[in-house]
Amino acid sequence: MIFTKSVIETIKKRQSIRTFDNQNITDEHYNIINDYLHNDENLIGPFGKKAKIELIQVSNNVTDKGIKLGTYGFIKNPKAYLVGITENNKNSLLEFAYSFQKLVLFLTELGIGTCWMGGTFNRNSFEREISLGKGEFIPCITPIGYPNDKQRVLDKALRYVVKADNKKPWDKLFYDSNFTSTLAKDRAGLFEIPVEMLRLGPSASNKQPWRLVLSEDRNSFHFYIEHTPNYSIKLGYDMQILDMGIAMCQFEMACRELNISGQWGMEDPNIDVPNELTEYIVSWKSK
Ligand SMILES: Cc1cc2nc3c(=O)[nH]c(=O)nc-3n(C[C@H](O)[C@H](O)[C@H](O)COP(=O)(O)O)c2cc1C
Repeated sequence: MIFTKSVIETIKKRQSIRTFDNQNITDEHYNIINDYLHNDENLIGPFGKKAKIELIQVSNNVTDKGIKLGTYGFIKNPKAYLVGITENNKNSLLEFAYSFQKLVLFLTELGIGTCWMGGTFNRNSFEREISLGKGEFIPCITPIGYPNDKQRVLDKALRYVVKADNKKPWDKLFYDSNFTSTLAKDRAGLFEIPVEMLRLGPSASNKQPWRLVLSEDRNSFHFYIEHTPNYSIKLGYDMQILDMGIAMCQFEMACRELNISGQWGMEDPNIDVPNELTEYIVSWKSK
């Protein structure tokens, strides 16, 4: 593992950055990022699928090929983009997002700002820059650069609109044994920190669609998604599945740091769900 600092501390620090400093990313940092992207170990998802991620440097948002990359004015001063590529199905999106979030945390550790973007960018311009294989598409990108300390008004306004600092409390997200009783922090045992780290993760429009149920025997966490009706329908893929992959990443990385061993599996425990929007995704089982 290339991480050198506490991932838990990095997760606490991360927030989406949309306004970057004028300073270019150093050659040293570009080398580190390229090394990261060329080491398969960093890109393998929880079920073994390798994520495809490309780095594109820009100058005034124009690539070496002369293509202007569009982000509709949401992003200021990006120095480069990391572009995700995957297939449009649930498992691919889940695995991809897990690996992409690991990269986001790695960049955060380096002091590089990121902002997951699934919607507010011009896909066509990015598709012209990279070559997609059959069945592949771009689920998300992130601009990168050093955060601008004096965050601009735009950044603050956007954070306000999407209520970015408004993370849902435990009793809206986490459940004990079934969906009728909520999980109190002091009943989460060793898992209190991993669950809290999951809660701090980014999600599309900050919808936080993750719902977790701790099994009665305290051995497993079952991960569910509560879909936001019609979310991302126009884009032709389920962007909220990316949120679930991110949640898996933050949860697992915190477990690993705390030496809590376990593994992922997909075995629906058939717990009654609160509504038809709630769907089982995956479970973490202690070893
Ligand atoms: C899958 C995904 C897609 C997102 N798409 C966009 C986007 O298109 N444009 C944007 O400005 N922010 C986007 N975001 C960033 C969220 O708005 C942000 O994560 C959320 O408001 C929480 O703020 P935080 O990341 O600072 O904790 C996306 C985040 C995720 C996880």
